Amino acid sequence: MKVCVIGTGYVGLVTGACLAHVGHEVICIDNNEAKVKLMQSGQSPIHEPGLPEILQTAIANHKILFSTNLAEGINHGEVIFIAVGTPALTDGQSDTRYVEAVAKGIGANLKSGYKVIVNKSTVPIGSGDWVRMLILDGMAENSDSIKSDQENNLELNPGLNPEFDIVSNPEFLREGSAVHDTFNPDRIVLGSSSAKAIELMQNLYSSIRDRQFASDPNLAPVPVVVTDLNSAEMIKYAANAFLAVKISFINEIANICDRVGGDVKEVASGIGLDSRIGQKFLNAGIGWGGSCFGKDVSALIHTAADYGYQTEILKACINVNTQQRLLIVEKLQQALKILKGKTIGLLGLTFKPDTDDLRDAPALTLIDQLSRLGAKVKAYDPIVSQSGMRDGLSNVSVETDAERLADGCDALVLVTEWQQFRELDYGKMSSLMNQNVIIDGRNFLDREALEALGYKYVGIGC
Ligand SMILES: NC(=O)c1ccc[n+]([C@@H]2O[C@H](COP(=O)([O-])OP(=O)(O)OC[C@H]3O[C@@H](n4cnc5c(N)ncnc54)[C@H](O)[C@@H]3O)[C@@H](O)[C@H]2O)c1
Repeated sequence: MKVCVIGTGYVGLVTGACLAHVGHEVICIDNNEAKVKLMQSGQSPIHEPGLPEILQTAIANHKILFSTNLAEGINHGEVIFIAVGTPALTDGQSDTRYVEAVAKGIGANLKSGYKVIVNKSTVPIGSGDWVRMLILDGMAENSDSIKSDQENNLELNPGLNPEFDIVSNPEFLREGSAVHDTFNPDRIVLGSSSAKAIELMQNLYSSIRDRQFASDPNLAPVPVVVTDLNSAEMIKYAANAFLAVKISFINEIANICDRVGGDVKEVASGIGLDSRIGQKFLNAGIGWGGSCFGKDVSALIHTAADYGYQTEILKACINVNTQQRLLIVEKLQQALKILKGKTIGLLGLTFKPDTDDLRDAPALTLIDQLSRLGAKVKAYDPIVSQSGMRDGLSNVSVETDAERLADGCDALVLVTEWQQFRELDYGKMSSLMNQNVIIDGRNFLDREALEALGYKYVGIGC
């Protein structure tokens, strides 16, 4: 099938590359020229395991193209994905201006034939109908300009009766395993009032649904949830809100463990064995971050308030998470007393391992707070340190390896659970530090091994 993906970030590029990999003919549109040039040369602008390989194969097989030309993309795609960002505004509501620009642009460029427009971006409930309205507005503006061209006897664009339907197809991929998640989804959600559009989408995803590209092709087909637009949009928000609440919940339990005794890791394992609860998302630590949880929970709070409902659980979830980041500062104060003049080394900067994404990363809050208190902050991150990217990073010196990081530190804080942080030479690092304190913000390291090396080890709730 012919597919157009508008917006080539973590979601759009992975979606485009994976759909090309399964055999569709994909064009990816982005208004960032530098990014498009990079992708045209076969390089991925983001760090995502497995992405460069499938991207290069798709390019070699002529299954994927990149362009800044929206009209070209609209013309090509029978299925057109909107995958632009929807960041949070300062009041918490979703900033939908990029979706708006794209929807109007789609309307202005729709010509003849039938197209399915897919909201893949996470958009507030009701956005399916709103996008339909914007596309119609774009079409009307375009036909006005065609009429005025007719009146001026200019050559006409033969635009004829375009038809389209809207589908909400929210994305659940996780950064760091986005390619794997796209080929092995837990479910595919399709929301639309059009049976024709749903059928087209079922065809688009048939090989993924049938696990032809899955790590275990013998599993039962991927469940496809076919529903209305609003429910599909709500499924995305509810899923992210639930996961964020689950983490905030276990962090709250960890904080109680810290006071009364008990090991939150044992507690999480004990409650997680209950099949109604499950083991996942019960790792206590510094709290969640990233581009999605915070903005999606805030947007849901905002939408509910617009409709007269106060979301007490969701507000508490955000408050607990905010406190959880600051808890690390408190633990450093308990271990070192005055932080002014001390040097703190952060192990990890990105909000999770295997990504280069720094959006709403807990490390950024820590850097702000520690520098405000007069500490010097250093950091080492396996990707950020090598990439040279420093956007959004200030008040921190980024070191090229863990030993340079440890040199002169009064404490280390494990912020991101990169696998390689388990293998560091903590013995050598301790010999370079002023004081051997380590705060394990993810309960990830081996307490006994570190204590045997002379570290004062502080976990979260254990
Ligand atoms: N990142 C994730 O893990 C994730 C997971 C699930 C859902 N989502 C949702 O998917 C959407 C995209 O997220 P992302 O992280 O990929 O965003 P991103 O910021 O990484 O990428 C957005 C891309 O859209 C491009 N863009 C903006 N305006 C454009 C326009 N008018 N025309 C063409 N391109 C334009 C930008 O240049 C950028 O490349 C968001 O709504 C997000 O909530 C993200």
